[in-house]
Amino acid sequence: MGTQFKAHKISDSVFWVGAIDWTLADFHGYSTRGSTYNAYLVIDEKTVLIDTVKSGFFEEMMARVRSVIDPLKIDYIISNHSEMDHTGSLPETIAATEPDRVFASAAGAQNIPAHFHGNDRIVPVKEGQRLSLGGRSLRFMETKMIHWPDSMFAYLEEDRLLFSNDVFGMHWASSERYVDQIDPGVRDYEAAKYFANIFMPYSNLVGKLLEKMKTADLAPLTIAPDHGPIWRKEADIDMIMRKYAVWADPRPTLKAVIAYDTMWGSTAAMASAVAAGLESGGAHPKVMPLSLAHRSDIATELLDAGALLVGSSTLNGQMLPRIADLLTYLRGLKPRHLIAGAFGSYGWHPKAVSQIKEIFGELRLPMVGDAVEAKFVPTDDDLRRCLDYGKAVAARLRELAGSSN
Ligand code: FEO
Repeated sequence: MGTQFKAHKISDSVFWVGAIDWTLADFHGYSTRGSTYNAYLVIDEKTVLIDTVKSGFFEEMMARVRSVIDPLKIDYIISNHSEMDHTGSLPETIAATEPDRVFASAAGAQNIPAHFHGNDRIVPVKEGQRLSLGGRSLRFMETKMIHWPDSMFAYLEEDRLLFSNDVFGMHWASSERYVDQIDPGVRDYEAAKYFANIFMPYSNLVGKLLEKMKTADLAPLTIAPDHGPIWRKEADIDMIMRKYAVWADPRPTLKAVIAYDTMWGSTAAMASAVAAGLESGGAHPKVMPLSLAHRSDIATELLDAGALLVGSSTLNGQMLPRIADLLTYLRGLKPRHLIAGAFGSYGWHPKAVSQIKEIFGELRLPMVGDAVEAKFVPTDDDLRRCLDYGKAVAARLRELAGSSN
């Protein structure tokens, strides 16, 4: 069964044995264009399987393993992260391969049995510990909270090959196994989208991780993440490391994301006027109506933005549901680098704008001036106030961008 699934040879001793999920459209709230669950086989005197795949993809992974070796020859399994897209098949894999040991970080050794009750014989590894495979060795590095407490790297030292788990990944399904084989536009957008939607809450830790990689002498020639294609060209690896450093510590820019929803077009008209004000003030508005834009694409656009302006009509004494959805999502992602603004129309009970401002307060995003509200349909004067509001945000962005140079 599954003979169509073959391993992909990365080097004489390392094989990709993961699974391609062509149908994944939603990864807990993040819209995806499929994904891959990457698992890797390292063959030395000892044979190691690094990570497994999501439940339901076990047979695909095992068929790829069988195309190289008898699965019973696997001596060790390394679980770099307990989230179920990488461990969903772990219990079945342990049963099928009967490894001598299953290794995880100290937190992983606790978290895996908390997912798969009874699987409690996980051996914890320490930060910096080496595991000899015979001719080669794996070194482990904890990457705590990037993005789970149990996350870690495994580094095949002699090959300078980094098994980076979620880090440097993309949710992108493709037959190509390497980053340099895919469209650069797709690469740039999907890598940014992945960072924004997975790592934004832990940006400060990502900056520290990049430093720690230098001090720990981790200079990979190949980066094999658990989602999407593998990085194997020096220029691409340099580029993604630089991008991660920038995304982890964003500088002020002149880009302003306007996310809005509207009942009868009044808030939409206000959004257009705010955008015109931003543009005339020298900023770059990116207008994203929620009738079209997905929350995770808005998060992606925020990665290199300087401002977020949110507009909503008031419906039944509340902000519109799609705005509540967006702000709930952003409250989790915790963008810290933005200035904020709010606007919207109401009928008889202005409420949406104050709810938006409350969430900006929780996020500690400084508001520019006061929000703009309009009763029912905005008058020419209301639209002029929106235009001026956009200009005021642009002026503040220019100040911030100027002072960071
Ligand atoms: Fe790909 Fe955090 O799991």
